[in-house]
Amino acid sequence: MRIAIGSDHAGLEMKNEVTAVLKDMGHEYKDLGTDSAQSVDYPDFGEKVSAAVSEGRVDRGILICGTGIGMSIVANKFRHIRAALCGDIFSAKMSRLHNDSNILILGGRVIGKDLAKEIVKTWLITPFEGGRHEKRLKKIELIEEKTIMKGDSQGK
Ligand code: RB5
Repeated sequence: MRIAIGSDHAGLEMKNEVTAVLKDMGHEYKDLGTDSAQSVDYPDFGEKVSAAVSEGRVDRGILICGTGIGMSIVANKFRHIRAALCGDIFSAKMSRLHNDSNILILGGRVIGKDLAKEIVKTWLITPFEGGRHEKRLKKIELIEEKTIMKGDSQGK
């Protein structure tokens, strides 16, 4: 799988742990930064990873900030993005089975690194269940289309 990963300074340490997991699992990954402990703005890195997934340049994305909340807000602004902030293995699994999540978000200051690694492994190996969940995802796409049209008509 081609995976883009990014974080701000608050997620840097966890990002390094997670990239080691991706390497071990044999995934092709692109680390889009940040790469130092210097304070940066999470939207800049959230945008890079979300755009890569939204435009189909990679299959999935992983984003990490302090709480995971800022990255979630950014990622879910992008078309075709279904970003899931997960702090437990059950949610990570369900976000794949039912929501076909394509970006996993972690809170580097919220959960420990060992749990984060297990969440990542679970999220990567769990398939989308399809079936009745397909039509729900289609409804999300329709909402995306409607809200974009609304923004256009208001000249935004
Ligand atoms: C950075 O201090 C922090 O605000 C950021 O990592 C994140 O938690 C925002 O949602």
